[in-house]
Amino acid sequence: MKIISSPLELKEYLKGENNSIGFQGSKSIGFVPTMGALHQGHISLIKKAKEQNELVVVSIFLNPTQFLKGEDLDKYPKKDEADKKICKLSGVDVLFFPHVEDIYGTDEVTLSAPNVRGYVLEGNSRPSHFNGVLTVVMKLLNIVTPTRAYFGKKDAQQLNLISLMVKQLFMNTQIVPVDTVRESDGLALSSRNVYLSSKERVEALKVSSSLRAASSMVGKNILDSKEIVKEMRKSLGDLEIFYVEVLNLDFEQLLHVEIGNTIILVEVRVGTTRLLDNIWL
Ligand code: PAF
Repeated sequence: MKIISSPLELKEYLKGENNSIGFQGSKSIGFVPTMGALHQGHISLIKKAKEQNELVVVSIFLNPTQFLKGEDLDKYPKKDEADKKICKLSGVDVLFFPHVEDIYGTDEVTLSAPNVRGYVLEGNSRPSHFNGVLTVVMKLLNIVTPTRAYFGKKDAQQLNLISLMVKQLFMNTQIVPVDTVRESDGLALSSRNVYLSSKERVEALKVSSSLRAASSMVGKNILDSKEIVKEMRKSLGDLEIFYVEVLNLDFEQLLHVEIGNTIILVEVRVGTTRLLDNIWL
């Protein structure tokens, strides 16, 4: 596995890889952008990228611009050596590991999240968060120019906004959504789960069980969004709830679940940790 920290060096390396295969076409590149602290969720993105592409690039970059003042940037879990091992064992071809100065200068050009979709749900409680996400993902996609880039469905709003950016800015990469990976008890994997105490971890299970309750209502043909949200709020008990929403794939509110076009999303705080989860129906 090649480890590269300079964007220009990575561009040159990938150009060389394409020239080395000796025909006019180019190698397909699968790209998995991450902020490190890799877990099985990231491994499933890498696995998908390996299945679908000839070359796999993973980036590890703790992007400061997507954290608001007072958020967990300084205490975000860092596991550089373990992450490198995971990438190597997962068959990653190139690990892009830039420093902040490699990605950002001063007096920066930045992207703005769209006024509606970028400022609801997580964007409502973290107003500049998605500007930072879109800006860094745009930079990373321009450096790697992948055929396909892989994002987890757990961060559904991020996935939606990145797909919208790629479409609206006429970019060439295909965005591939990948299913959420869960612990055997239902907890969705997240790098932030390490913040949970054992008591909080038990409380956190209410999130996935509220989604299971919603899914079982839909299974019984109860499709009314208000009823579903009411039941979910009941299952979440006394957790601090940021939102429980029934939306279509364009992130518009739905009065009724539409099978094949619905995401039910929930965000809560357990202790000091924000937890997001969702199901796609
Ligand atoms: O989902 C993440 O880990 C980050 O938001 C991403 C997409 C790597 C951008 O920093």
